[in-house]
Amino acid sequence: MFFKLLKRFYDTTYNLNYQYAKVIIVIGSLFVMPKDFCMADRRPNVEVIDTDILDKKEDLGQLDRTKLNIQMSEPEIRFLSYLIRRYKPKKIVEIGVAAGGSSVVILNAIKNIPNAKLYSIDLCEKMGNDHSQRIGFVVDRHFSHLNKSNWRLYTGNITAKFIDEIGKDIDFVFIDTEHRNPGEILDFLQILPYLKRGAIVVFHDVSCHLLYYPKNKTQWTNCALLNAIKGRKIIPRKDSWEGVELIFPNIGAIKIENNQEKFAFDYFNMLTLPWYYFPDEEQIKTLKDFFRKHYDDFCCNIFERAINEYRQLLSKKYQEENSILHRFIMFFRAIINRIVHFSF
Ligand SMILES: C[S@@+](CC[C@H](N)C(=O)[O-])C[C@H]1O[C@@H](n2cnc3c(N)ncnc32)[C@H](O)[C@@H]1O
Repeated sequence: MFFKLLKRFYDTTYNLNYQYAKVIIVIGSLFVMPKDFCMADRRPNVEVIDTDILDKKEDLGQLDRTKLNIQMSEPEIRFLSYLIRRYKPKKIVEIGVAAGGSSVVILNAIKNIPNAKLYSIDLCEKMGNDHSQRIGFVVDRHFSHLNKSNWRLYTGNITAKFIDEIGKDIDFVFIDTEHRNPGEILDFLQILPYLKRGAIVVFHDVSCHLLYYPKNKTQWTNCALLNAIKGRKIIPRKDSWEGVELIFPNIGAIKIENNQEKFAFDYFNMLTLPWYYFPDEEQIKTLKDFFRKHYDDFCCNIFERAINEYRQLLSKKYQEENSILHRFIMFFRAIINRIVHFSF
C-alpha cells in the first residue's frame, strides 16, 4: 500500500518535473525498503506460523511430554500437530521413528480425523543407543489411550521396500532420518512418486548444522531440501532448544507444487553434493531398482555416477590415503628418496 502511494506520488511529481522531490523520495525509499524485504511473512512463498498461539489451540494436554522420548522441541511438536489439524491428511507417512515420540504426536493429532492413517518407517528394528528397546516402543508403553488401529509400523529397511504396500495418494510426510547426505535426499526420492498433488512434506532438523556447531556441521541435508523442493514453504516464527531460542527454526514444511515429476532432475542433481556416509550395498541395489522403475534414464544415471564417485571417495583405502599419518609418511618417504638420489 505504502509503495503504491509512493509510486503514484513519484509519477505525479515526474509529470510536474519536481526534480528535488524525486530525489528525496528515492533516498527515503532506500531506508524503508530493506526492512520490508526482510520480512519473510510478506513474501508470497513463505507462510510464518506463530507457535506461541498454537500452544493454547493444540490439544496436547494428554501427552505426558516426559514420556515421549522425543528429539523435538516444544514449538516443533506444536508446529507438527498444527499442520496435521489444519490439512487433515488421510494418509500420513513418517520416515525416522526412533523411540516413537513423533509417532505419538501424529497419532494424537489425527485422533479426530476420520479414516486418517499413519505409516511409520524406520531403517532399524532396535534403538541405536539401547538394543533392548524396539523402535517405536513408547507408543505402546506409555500412550495406550491412543488408537493404534490406524497405525502401521515398518522396521528394518528403507522406504522403497515398504512403499508399494503403503500405496499412492500420500498427502502428508514427516521426514527425520540422517540429516547428512545422501540421507533424506534418497528418502524424499523414494516417497515422491507416491505423493498426492499438493501434499505436505515436513522436515525436522532443518537448522541442525547450526546446533552444537561444529559437531553437526555436515547435517545440512534437510535445510537444502527445504530450499530445493518446489512449493510453498511453511515455517514456525520461533523455535527453541533446551530453553535457548534458535536463530533459525529447526522444522519446516512444504506444500508441494503440482507436477513434481517436472523437477526430478533438480532433486537427483542434489546427489552430486558431498556424501558423508555410504548406504550399504543391499540398500544401493534396492534404490537402483526402485529408481529405474519410477524415474527416467537421465535421473538414474545421475544416481549411478554419484554412487561410483562416492563409493570410491568414502572407501577406507581413500580415507587412509588422505589421512594425516599417510600424508606424513609420503612426505617423509619423498625426503628419503631425495637424500638417496643426491647421495648416489
Ligand atoms: C532422529 S531419529 C528420529 C526421531 C523421531 N522422529 C523423533 O522425533 O522422536 C532418526 C531415526 O531414523 C532412522 N533412519 C535413519 N536412516 C533411515 C532411512 N533411510 N529410512 C528410515 N529410517 C531411517 C534411524 O534408525 C533413527 O531411528
